[in-house]
Amino acid sequence: MPTFSPEAVATSAALNQQIDAGPVRELLYDAGGKYRWPRFRVNEVELEWRRWRIRRHLGAADDPPASIGLFEKLIVSGGGPAVSAMDFESAGIAPITDGYDEMFPQGPLVTKALQGRVVRAPGERDDEDYARLLAESTRRRDAYLSKLDNDSFWWHIDDFVSAETLRRCAAELDHLDPAAGMAFAGGPDPGWDVLHDALTSKSSNMYLGAGPTLVQIHEDPVLVADVSRRMGRAMYPTRCTYLRYRKGDFLGVHTDMPTCEVSLLFTVDGEAGPMRSYLDQATDTASSLGQWVVSEGQFPRGGKDFVYQPRECLALVGRATPHARLPQDDRAVIGAMFYSGLT
Ligand SMILES: [Fe+2]
Repeated sequence: MPTFSPEAVATSAALNQQIDAGPVRELLYDAGGKYRWPRFRVNEVELEWRRWRIRRHLGAADDPPASIGLFEKLIVSGGGPAVSAMDFESAGIAPITDGYDEMFPQGPLVTKALQGRVVRAPGERDDEDYARLLAESTRRRDAYLSKLDNDSFWWHIDDFVSAETLRRCAAELDHLDPAAGMAFAGGPDPGWDVLHDALTSKSSNMYLGAGPTLVQIHEDPVLVADVSRRMGRAMYPTRCTYLRYRKGDFLGVHTDMPTCEVSLLFTVDGEAGPMRSYLDQATDTASSLGQWVVSEGQFPRGGKDFVYQPRECLALVGRATPHARLPQDDRAVIGAMFYSGLT
């Protein structure tokens, strides 16, 4: 059980969310400026910076990774309030002693923060170590699942994009350099990744990156508010990318990383085969998911196939729900946008 009160976190988060990070975001993202961070890094560091401030406010003494330290420095030099601890005595509560994972079981979004969990390199791990890490990972997944009080782990959005917006997506695709995208062929063997609290397996597809049109859809305040309403807490845009599937490409069954709690997917070009979602496994423990994928392989039996028509969108809580895309009959390009919660 956490020693901090969820109400204290909620209060601290509400105060924290009033800090305007807009000017710092512009500075870090500016293509002609000093930093030139990619959009996803600006988004993820901002969220992690807010979490760090909440923890500081409630009495934790975490040292921030350099990226969060820079964000804080720019906020303060831009006239924002410096981070402070609350007055515990007059509030009548004790400073927190819980670790990051107890407070944010959905997992850290910034690599440096994530690495805090890595005890040893995977190759050096013995069975006893693995069993201990698996037990920790199981606890974190359970804690994460208990945060979700969704009616459903998926939903459809009809008329998600107009024909004109789809044309703009297709046009900006032509300007993305496929060579600069990340191709995935292979990947880890099916199993449970105890460091990321995620199911992994082999995939073959390509991440092409995004252009201004996809970023605009991703960060549309009305859409972000709708995702937040569905999830029952404030959600923030993290990453977006076009995904290219060639004939025969696939996505082995997996759950998503911390930075992708919720995904929104729509077809930009071609005919994507169904996204298979294993909703019956969405509340399974880490250990049973690990055993399930080892015995069932890349494309387990069961699941629910979602076929979304052009202009429709499928939203999935992919951090909880295992999902896969079977080998494709045809080429297709998907727009994929991801969101994560602050708390
Ligand atoms: Fe996924």
